[in-house]
Amino acid sequence: MAKISKKDLIEAAFRARQRAVAPYSKFKVGAALLTKSGKIITGANVESASYGLTCCAERVALFTALTEGHRRFAAIAIVARAPGGPMPCGACRQLLVEYAPNLLVWVADGASRRQIREFSVGELLPAAFVEVPKNSG
Ligand code: THU
Repeated sequence: MAKISKKDLIEAAFRARQRAVAPYSKFKVGAALLTKSGKIITGANVESASYGLTCCAERVALFTALTEGHRRFAAIAIVARAPGGPMPCGACRQLLVEYAPNLLVWVADGASRRQIREFSVGELLPAAFVEVPKNSG
């Protein structure tokens, strides 16, 4: 399989973004998660009339990947029409750091998709809670 580039993953996230279901905020987000084996799994945000039930694009992609059996992840691309690209929310950072501790996070804006900003998931959520301590009861 040909190696997936940063640009390929961003383009996959833009395609996923077209499938966002965001009738309330109108803020469409796409995410594309790259497994270490070179597979791309995508997600987009899905909103609810009960707003708090909304699920972000990143979590849709991560949950899909995990339930398809993937466990090792290299990078995630996240895209939206947001200056500088959309930064993942705290809830998504928590899940990403738990399941993909060495993940690279690439974000891009719809208007200038060539300007890709890169972060490590560790810098986005330092000193994270990753495990319930044993014998802590
Ligand atoms: N959203 C995402 O999908 N990812 C993020 O990183 C931030 C926010 C979605 C959730 C909601 O549907 C909309 O953007 C507005 O918050």
